[in-house]
Amino acid sequence: MADSISIGMLGCGIVGSAVARILDAHSEEIGERVGARLEIRRVAVRNVGKERDVPLAKEVFTDDASDVVKDPDIQILIEVMGGIEPTRTLLLDAMRSGKHVVSANKELIGSLGRELFDEAQANRVEFNFEASVAGGVPIIRPLKESLAGERVERVMGILNGTTNYILTKMAEEAMEFDEALAQAERLGYAELDPTADIEGFDAAAKLSILASIAFNARVVAGDVYREGITRVTQADITNARSLGYVVKLLAIAESVDGEIAMRVHPAMILQTHPLASVRDNLNAIFVEGNQVGELMFYGRGAGGPPTAISVIGDAVDVARHIVSGGRGVGSIDSPPGRVRPMDSTVSQYYVLLEVADKPGVLARVAQTFADNDVSIKSMLQEGMGREARLILVTHNAVERNFQALLAELANLEVVDAIASSMRVQSAED
Ligand SMILES: NC(=O)c1ccc[n+]([C@@H]2O[C@H](COP(=O)([O-])OP(=O)(O)OC[C@H]3O[C@@H](n4cnc5c(N)ncnc54)[C@H](OP(=O)(O)O)[C@@H]3O)[C@@H](O)[C@H]2O)c1
Repeated sequence: MADSISIGMLGCGIVGSAVARILDAHSEEIGERVGARLEIRRVAVRNVGKERDVPLAKEVFTDDASDVVKDPDIQILIEVMGGIEPTRTLLLDAMRSGKHVVSANKELIGSLGRELFDEAQANRVEFNFEASVAGGVPIIRPLKESLAGERVERVMGILNGTTNYILTKMAEEAMEFDEALAQAERLGYAELDPTADIEGFDAAAKLSILASIAFNARVVAGDVYREGITRVTQADITNARSLGYVVKLLAIAESVDGEIAMRVHPAMILQTHPLASVRDNLNAIFVEGNQVGELMFYGRGAGGPPTAISVIGDAVDVARHIVSGGRGVGSIDSPPGRVRPMDSTVSQYYVLLEVADKPGVLARVAQTFADNDVSIKSMLQEGMGREARLILVTHNAVERNFQALLAELANLEVVDAIASSMRVQSAED
């Protein structure tokens, strides 16, 4: 076997320690596949004195990340420390000194990925980030390589395990949002501050990474329209079920008339859709292409070992190119993406109205829908004495028209309250 390949690692926490353990345990097989051993030579952490269950000598550790970045022997830098700074500067410096980089950092890549892609390109080094989207689920490489000949039309995913766990508990155990969140926190599925998960920021960062690869365009997390799941109620979940849907936090990116539409929001999806069966804290990505049809990638979106497998896969890819003397699929030189404004996207919608139970109400409500160019697909009325609830699902409508409809309904004297509204992801394309 040829010589070894030197790896430096920034971070040795949940993911980093799993990378170290798996690289050690599978070192023989990985070495045979690559044609050289992968050896972790230097690791930066915050606290070098911390006890760590990793098969690495104490001398490997440093609390100065630039020691690793400046080490001329390191060929591949694995970044699993997270955060924006100093991580961004460290990765740019590593690329400038000719190191290939592997990162799991969705926050950084989702917001400043372009700068890193450009720097990798300028320095002719590889930059891989499979673990930044859906942890252990391979999706970046399939999009970049296996589907290189495809024109992807839509990528739709469940990209956040915490929110999927919460929605699963709400659907299967009739929990309200707060109770399900508390349970996710107890089980360690939710961060101390769950905002990034429950408000959809985490999914938006991952969606922007997916969209930039799928549509070969420069887009960032800030371009993604975003709504979280905090307003989803038990009534929405129950109504979805009786209408044949499941509520999921969907991340959707599609190519429409040369523009990229990207959104993260709770949505009702048909119970028969493959994404509807993705339960608990699992992730899945559903890809639609004009030649290949429909594909689904499903698995563990987080956790040390699954995420480490993606990180190691990226490092192995680079290592093979180092051994063979070639260069892998590097950064993509893509143009800025034209982002489609949310108000021109098209979707079906669900609305729950509390209305007075008296003659003429239905006609008044139906007329308001028609006035706003939103056509009703189905309507269910539940009586409650002098009040009634109307559960409506629309045909495809333009977002701007639907928002105008909501504003008008809120002012109708026959409508007591718009109890809820939600987008419906259906087959009505
Ligand atoms: N956990 C997952 O399931 C998962 C899944 C997909 C992607 N990711 C991504 O992977 C990355 C790492 O996540 P993680 O869960 O492994 O995080 P973590 O457990 O908090 O580990 C972070 C590591 O980075 C070190 N570190 C932090 N700041 C540092 C600095 N300024 N200089 C040197 N070392 C520093 C920490 O050192 P100490 O150990 O001394 O504190 C720790 O070892 C993040 O970008 C995350 O978004 C994680």
